[in-house]
Amino acid sequence: VYRPSQRANWAEGQPISELMARALANPDLISLAAGFVDQQTLPAEETGKALANLFDDADAAQAALQYGTTPGYPPLRELLLDRALAAEPESSKAPRTTLDQVVVTAGSNQLLHLVVESLLDPGDIVLCAAPTYLVFLGTLANVGARSVGVATDEQGLIPEALVETLRRLDAAGDLGRVKAIYLVPYFDNPCGVTMPVERVAQAVEIAKSWSTENRIHVIADEAYHELRYAGEDVPSAHTLDADGDTVVVAGTFSKSFSPGIRVGWGILPKDLVGPVCSQKGNFDFGSPNFSQHLMHRVMRDGLFDSHIEQIRAGYRLKLQAMLEALEEHLSSVDGVHWFAPRGGLYVWLHLPEEIDSGLHGRLFDLSMREGVLYVPGRYCFPLEGEPIHANTMRLSFGVQSCEKIREGIAALSRAIRAV
Ligand SMILES: Cc1ncc(COP(=O)(O)O)c(C=O)c1O
Repeated sequence: VYRPSQRANWAEGQPISELMARALANPDLISLAAGFVDQQTLPAEETGKALANLFDDADAAQAALQYGTTPGYPPLRELLLDRALAAEPESSKAPRTTLDQVVVTAGSNQLLHLVVESLLDPGDIVLCAAPTYLVFLGTLANVGARSVGVATDEQGLIPEALVETLRRLDAAGDLGRVKAIYLVPYFDNPCGVTMPVERVAQAVEIAKSWSTENRIHVIADEAYHELRYAGEDVPSAHTLDADGDTVVVAGTFSKSFSPGIRVGWGILPKDLVGPVCSQKGNFDFGSPNFSQHLMHRVMRDGLFDSHIEQIRAGYRLKLQAMLEALEEHLSSVDGVHWFAPRGGLYVWLHLPEEIDSGLHGRLFDLSMREGVLYVPGRYCFPLEGEPIHANTMRLSFGVQSCEKIREGIAALSRAIRAV
C-alpha cells in the first residue's frame, strides 16, 4: 500500500493543473491563462550562435558537458555579479555584494525552493502580497508552511497593512514563526504592479524592525525585472538592505531569454549562502552545467542585451493590444476595472464583487464556451490574512498574437456581460 509522505500530502492538489489539463484538452481555446513567454521571439538564432562559439573550442565544450559545482559556474556568476553591481545606484546603502553571494540554480523557482527549505519549518509563516505568484504558494505548501496575505493596491503590498498583519500575528503569539516577506517588486505576477522603490525600502525596514524573535528576511523575486516597456528602471531590493543580512534576490533568464535553458540565480545574504548551498549539495550538487556555460556565452558575446531590446518591443505591442481591447469591450461595464502595467506579462482584471471567476463558477464555464481561458484570481491568494477576492482574474498577453489577444478579450467580454 502506498502511503504518501507528509510532504506528498502537503504538495497535493494545485488547482492550476486542472486549468492546464482543460487547455490541453481543447487546442482551439485562446489561452490567456498560461504565463509562458512568446514562442515566436524565443532566441533560436542567438542560442545557436552562442552554442557554435562554445563548441568551437573542444576544451570549453567538454568542460560544459561535465558536472559543475554546487554554487554554479564561476564565470557566469561573475557576469551576474558585474551586472548587479553596475545597476547599483550611488545611493545604495548595501555592503558591496561579493561573488560567494551569487548562487546559480535551475530556474529561480529552485532558488526560492532552497531558500524556503533553509528558512522554514512546518507551521512557519511567510507574508505575501495578496494576490501573489501562485507557484510560490505551492512551494510554501510543500514544506507545510503558512502563507499569510497582506493587502495590496496599484503599487503592490501596502506597508501599513504589512505592519498591521505583523501586529496581529504578534498578538496571537505567532511573531516568532514569521520567517520572511515575499515580494515580486517588478511587474508582479499576477497583477502587473511595480512597487515604488520607497515601498520596497519600507518593507525592508519593517522586516528589520520586527525581527525581534528571529530575522525576518525579504525575498524579492525579480523574475520580470528585464521586461520593462515604459518608465525608468528602479534599483533592485538588495541595494536597500543597509546591513546586507535581510534581502534575498531571486533572478532568472526564463523571461528575458529562454525558460527552456532554465537558469536562475540568487543574491543571498552571507549567512544564507552556506545553508542554501548545503541544501543544494544534497539535492543536485549543481544545476545543469551545460545551460550555465551556454548562458555565460550568451552574456559574454553580447547576445543577451540585444535580445531583451527586441522582445521588449514585441511585448509592448501585445500589452497595448490587450489594453485597447479591454477598453473597447469592457470599459462600459459597471464594476469592471484594471490598470495598465508598465512591464511583465499580465493584466489583472477586477469584476463586480458578486462574480466568482473560479473553475466551478458560471463565468468560467461561459468563457470556455466562448473559447477563452484565464487564470481565476482566487488561486493567487494566500489561504490566510487578506480575504480571497474571487472576483478577479489574471490575463496573460505573452503567448498569443495581437490578433488572438483581441479575439480573446472580445470573447471574454461576451461571457462577462452574459454573467
Ligand atoms: C514571479 C515568478 N517567479 C519565478 C518564476 C519562475 O521562473 P523560473 O523558475 O523559470 O526562473 C516565475 C515563472 O513564471 C514567476 O512568475
